Amino acid sequence: MATVISVQGESPARAREAAQQLGLQYGTYQDPAGLLLVVGEASAWLQLDGVRVAVQFDSAAMQHRRKGGHNEMLGRAVGLKADWKPLVWDATGGLGRDAFVLADLGCEVTLCERTPVLAWLLDQAVQAAAVSGVDQIRAAAARMSVLAVDSKTQRTPAGTVIYLDPMFPERKKAAAVKKEAAMLQHLADPVDDCETLWQWAWDQPVERIVVKRPLRAPILGHIRPAHTLKGKSVRFDVFIRRL
Ligand SMILES: C[S@@+](CC[C@H](N)C(=O)[O-])C[C@H]1O[C@@H](n2cnc3c(N)ncnc32)[C@H](O)[C@@H]1O
Repeated sequence: MATVISVQGESPARAREAAQQLGLQYGTYQDPAGLLLVVGEASAWLQLDGVRVAVQFDSAAMQHRRKGGHNEMLGRAVGLKADWKPLVWDATGGLGRDAFVLADLGCEVTLCERTPVLAWLLDQAVQAAAVSGVDQIRAAAARMSVLAVDSKTQRTPAGTVIYLDPMFPERKKAAAVKKEAAMLQHLADPVDDCETLWQWAWDQPVERIVVKRPLRAPILGHIRPAHTLKGKSVRFDVFIRRL
């Protein structure tokens, strides 16, 4: 459970509002310990042991990723074509990076995130992107919507593509990525429900499910994917069926 604090020297109004909305304790700089949600007038991030994680779609890292060719693989995995932009149901929203890439590629994306503090950060990031000075970021934000729910409680609309990127124990990763993953794992529900999440996806009226996995991780679910797209460290298993 995070404690909410405000950015030093800034108005605490938004931080207090966030604490109330999320049902979290509002703290002060005298008692910051453990996981913190730090909220300023126009910024917010999670902080644990000095490590910060923010959701920011106009960050340098996201700009770099938007231009990177590896996004093509994510687009191909969801079946994106020049004349067809699928509706994507991202059932594991996380920090929203894959969802933003898909929205930037032209897909309408619904992000579900069951950890309330992450869903709040995602929602704030979408709202901030919606008033970005960069046309393309504003356009992508307009295609994103956030639901603070457990995906397994939802029925997805027919014709969507379900995207799953469940948590996986980290091994050989760059230090920064490891710290972020540690933060996500700190927040995550301890119940590892990858298989039930896959089964939920399979029970939806969809013809395509895409699962992001570390390159050598076992396949999720009980059937073989129709095909797999492999990157340097991750792969996308694509399950296809006719309904
Ligand atoms: C590895 S992260 C996803 C990262 C994301 N693809 C990105 O680009 O930032 C997995 C996320 O899925 C969320 N999650 C796991 N099971 C979920 C469920 N059943 N419903 C909603 N969110 C879930 C976790 O809380 C975690 O934030």
